[in-house]
This record gives sequence, C-alpha cells and structure tokens, in this order.
Amino acid sequence: MTGDRKAVVVAIDGPAASGKGTLSRELAARFNLAHLDTGSLYRAVAAKVLAAGQDPKDPIAAEAAARGLQSSDLQRSDLRTPETAQASSIVAGQAKVRAALLDYQRRFAARAPGGVVGAVLDGRDIGTVVCPDADVKLFVTASKETRALRRHKELVERGDKATYDEVLEAMIARDRRDSERATAPLEQADDAHLLDTSELGIEQAVAQAAAIIQRQAFSEG
Ligand code: C5P
Repeated sequence: MTGDRKAVVVAIDGPAASGKGTLSRELAARFNLAHLDTGSLYRAVAAKVLAAGQDPKDPIAAEAAARGLQSSDLQRSDLRTPETAQASSIVAGQAKVRAALLDYQRRFAARAPGGVVGAVLDGRDIGTVVCPDADVKLFVTASKETRALRRHKELVERGDKATYDEVLEAMIARDRRDSERATAPLEQADDAHLLDTSELGIEQAVAQAAAIIQRQAFSEG
C-alpha cells in the first residue's frame, strides 16, 4: 500500500446482536484495517455513570462521563452486562453525549493508526452521521429471534442467568430506544448494502461483506 493513499473507511451499522461486531473484527483483520467498536464508547459512559451511583437519564452526569472518557474506561469488566447495555442506550439518546464522542470517532476513522490502510467502525450511526462519506457502508441485521438467541447464548456462556424471554424483551426495548431517538437514530443509510445474517454462518457473512468491500474500496477504476 502506498503511503499517500487516502484511508479506506468501512461503516458497519445494525441493531443489537446482529453479528456486526464479529463481522467487523474479521473484516478488519482481512483488509488490514483498524477497528473501532463504537458501542463500547456508549457502554463505557453508561458503566461509569452506574458505578458512580448516578442515573443514566441525568444529562449532566452522562455528559460529564462522556467528556471525561479515558481509554482505560474501554477496558472495564462491566461493559457487557445487561444493566450496562440498557443504560448505554439511555445515555446514547442524549445529544450532548453523542456530540462529546463524535470527534474521537471521526479522528479514528481519518487517521488509520499503526500502519493500517484504514478503519472499520461499527455502531448505529456510522454511515449516517459519523462517516457519511465512508467508502463502503453495510447495514447488518437479523430477525429479532435470531439476535436474542445469539445474545442469550453469549450471556449464558458468561454465567449470566437471564432467560431467553428476558433477553428478547430487553433487546426489543433497546432497539426501540435506538431507532426512535431524535438524535442519530439507528437507520440504514441510503447508500448502505443490506446484509441479513439470520440464515448465514459467520464465514458466509464475512465472504459476502468482503466481496462488497473488495469491489467498492479496493478495485482500481
Ligand atoms: O453495539 P452495542 O450494542 O455495544 O451498543 C450499545 C449501545 O450504544 C446501543 O444500544 C446504542 O444505544 C449505543 N450506540 C449508539 N451509536 C453507536 C453505537 C452504539 O447509539 N454508533
């Protein structure tokens, strides 16, 4: 790769447990791209607010946590708990929290750290708000039952006792908050490719996404 080539940006959006996280990591490794899981930023803000005994709905507490976010916060052990997941979509509905995290995400996309050729960012608003000029946009989805099964399996493997029905209900509530909020709601960008992973194994999903990226970002002419 030549040094003066513009960084390639791949935007991957979709609802909870759609498979976008695994897909993003695999694609980043395959194309030598850095990867940013932007959901972890909102999760870290939520986890900090909860750990301080504050209310995720409190806009002052949430904005302060977002402005003070450190890279060590992204390594917290409580990022993947169901409580943090719900609270993350509450803090993410607040415009000032989103504004506080925007620059970091855009800089990550532009700078392509560590000798890589660009970046994959995954989240909810990457193709619509964070990187509207991304070279490739994917919108990854799956039926809500498939997504709840995946998330339930993940939680059980970590020793959580949540039932499938509880996971499904929590996921529907979170999807609704993410899709109906006024600022940067979850939605498919007009120019995003739709990838439904309900019937796809991870290898098939990666193969389909990789073909789109190869064609759109790495083919000459
Ligand atoms: O992707 P993940 O499920 O970890 O994201 C946690 C929460 O963070 C989402 O439910 C959503 O509310 C918020 N989020 C967001 N915008 C992003 C990424 C995540 O609002 N780009």
